[in-house]
Amino acid sequence: MSVPPTPPHDRAAVLCGLAGWLPPRVVTNEELSRRLDTSDAWIRSRTGIGRRHLAEPGQATSDLAVEAGRRALGSAGVDDVDAVVVATTTPDRSCPATAPLVADRLGLTGVAAFDVGAVCTGFVYGLASAAGLIAAGVAERVLLIGADTYSTIVDPDDRSNAIIFGDGAGAVVLRAGHADEPGAVGHFDLGSDGAGEELIMVAAGGSRQRSGTGPVALRDHHFAMRGKEVYRHAVTRMTASARATLTLADHKVDDIDRIVPHQANLRILHSVADDLGLPTERLVSNVGSVGNTGAASIPLALADAAARRTIHAGERVLLTAFGGGLTWGSCLLTWPALARTDHPHHTGGTQEP
Ligand code: COA
Repeated sequence: MSVPPTPPHDRAAVLCGLAGWLPPRVVTNEELSRRLDTSDAWIRSRTGIGRRHLAEPGQATSDLAVEAGRRALGSAGVDDVDAVVVATTTPDRSCPATAPLVADRLGLTGVAAFDVGAVCTGFVYGLASAAGLIAAGVAERVLLIGADTYSTIVDPDDRSNAIIFGDGAGAVVLRAGHADEPGAVGHFDLGSDGAGEELIMVAAGGSRQRSGTGPVALRDHHFAMRGKEVYRHAVTRMTASARATLTLADHKVDDIDRIVPHQANLRILHSVADDLGLPTERLVSNVGSVGNTGAASIPLALADAAARRTIHAGERVLLTAFGGGLTWGSCLLTWPALARTDHPHHTGGTQEP
């Protein structure tokens, strides 16, 4: 695509479409407890999770992304965009990226399409990337999809991780608009600390450790996480990033009507809200019914809240995320009046279990 002349300074990306999609198969804590040495009570008390949706064998991240992307385009009332960005840690393949395939399946062949890899911070990084394309005048409209199928990389016999993660996709459409209108995204705070690489990792399959055969190689292809340390980082990094964003925007904590953290674990979300001094009523959460869905978690939580009318036009919303890398990021926006928002599942909502 050709790059137009320098855009005006008040040009910004404005949220105008939102949707989510969850694979139909629901796996409850009871079902996991029949197979793993765990219990519904343990999972609920440590994570607040009651159930999650898992992809069927053969269902890939792009399949979920296409469903969410199609619904987000419908929510925005548009059928074309200039770019498709897919934030994911579970791309269909290590090469090529998943976004071009998603764009093609949505009838958007020819548009710019690329993946963003920032693990569970992927949606916020993707939002900054999409907003940058629009603010720079490179694109008028962008479809951003956060999609992950962690069930394809989590060892089903690993009780520490199998209880936490779910599969899903959430998507937003951003259009060019003005920085002071509802839905305009920004300010942003983004950060990373690669010294924490080993806390969240899939060891094999990349250039450091290529694919191999045998049981050890299989283990190295599984997702590994040092849960206790990750927990501490998730709380401190999201809290600090949220504060940094408020400072950039010259806002106080009390100015925030809704905080939407990456849905890692309910205890983490409560700690972030507490540390910021925000009452838990302002916390948006659907982790109880979907688990941690990686890059999909923030847009799925937003789509769920919008469909249930627990987030309202004019409210000031703070998004904050933390993930492998380590990475973290936050973003502010005033919630826009969206024309259409459906529950992120074709058979109904994602009520807390
Ligand atoms: N059921 C029952 N027991 C379990 C279990 C399960 N599903 N998973 C682990 N345990 C056991 C452990 O083996 C350990 O047993 P031990 O004391 O005999 O060794 C015990 O429970 C405590 O394990 P620990 O890891 O200390 O538990 P925890 O209270 O830290 O909870 C997590 C584990 C994973 C739930 C928690 O660390 C966590 O939520 N971390 C953050 C994960 C996250 O959100 N990651 C995404 C961020 S992007």
